[in-house]
Amino acid sequence: MAQNFVSMCTADTLSQAATELKNGALVAFPTETVYGLGADATNQSAIERLYQVKGRPVDHPLIVHISAMEKMEIWASEIPTYAISLARDFWPGPMTLILPRRDIAKDFITGGQETVGLRVPAHVIALSLLTAFEKIGGVGIAAPSANRFGQVSPTTSAAVESEIGTYLSPHDIILDGGPSLVGVESTIIDCTGDIPKILRPGAITEVMIEESTNLSIAADEASAIRVSGSLENHYSPKARVVLNAIAEPGEGFIALASIATPKGAIRLASPKTTEDFARVLYEALREADNQGLKKIAVLPPEGEGLAIAIRDRLQRASRGRASQ
Ligand code: TXA
Ligand code: MG
Repeated sequence: MAQNFVSMCTADTLSQAATELKNGALVAFPTETVYGLGADATNQSAIERLYQVKGRPVDHPLIVHISAMEKMEIWASEIPTYAISLARDFWPGPMTLILPRRDIAKDFITGGQETVGLRVPAHVIALSLLTAFEKIGGVGIAAPSANRFGQVSPTTSAAVESEIGTYLSPHDIILDGGPSLVGVESTIIDCTGDIPKILRPGAITEVMIEESTNLSIAADEASAIRVSGSLENHYSPKARVVLNAIAEPGEGFIALASIATPKGAIRLASPKTTEDFARVLYEALREADNQGLKKIAVLPPEGEGLAIAIRDRLQRASRGRASQ
């Protein structure tokens, strides 16, 4: 019988998971955005296995997760004042800062780039794991979203297991921490220039960044999507995602609760707010695949803020799977 990798989190499991990480195993863990697939960010062979399990090209860099903003200096060589404001205001939280790297951030983490992505996640289990790992000499956990490359990010431990369970080894662990509360990946902010630049929109919005830094960043949605599109191909289910279309009978349908289900369509989610939409979106896309649906019609939320991140992911999902 296949091994069950999912583990409920007790203090014992967390210290065991930290030890396994230090020994080179992979530990998937919950964060407030999506689940991550973690490995010791300084262990080349562990990172090589991580890339294999994810099926990801090695020139795609990984985010290094740390327990607190004080640890930034271990990984980053220059930290502009505005990045300190952002870290102070939004960490722990759904934000990744791209900064010039120090030597400890090897090419196998950065994909050969001179920068490193850093994030302090706001999930109690992620933070406890990071602290336990640092206590035994760890300096950071590299963690991409715990899905196979190009597919939908997992927001539950069950989704992690169905994505990568068959690729894991006996010492690997999936920590369960309930459904992710944000539901879409962190905002990625390039902090290598005079002003911050959004590379991937998320729950930390342009307005929040401007208020925190007192800088005008003036990133329009189109440019944000163009840049982040180059970071990762797709966030796609098997079913074809069609935006702003009315579902035909037998097709999946995702829209705000205030919008009625078209006759014969299969309602996959009825979020009441934009925040709810982000939280339930990826599970709804997975549900479509579980039901074997061929097509999902989605009416994305309108407006600014988190709605921009939702439209970004949906637009990329609607471009279809990288492998097809
Ligand atoms: O919310 C999140 O960010 C989740 C959780 C687990 O923290 N992680 C996540 O990782 O979404 P991943 O690897 O699936 O997506 C991270 C993106 C990738 O597209 C990668 O190319 C980009 O961040 N990235 C990482 N380091 C970078 C760097 N130094 N420069 C530019 N882009 C970078
Ligand atoms: Mg990802």
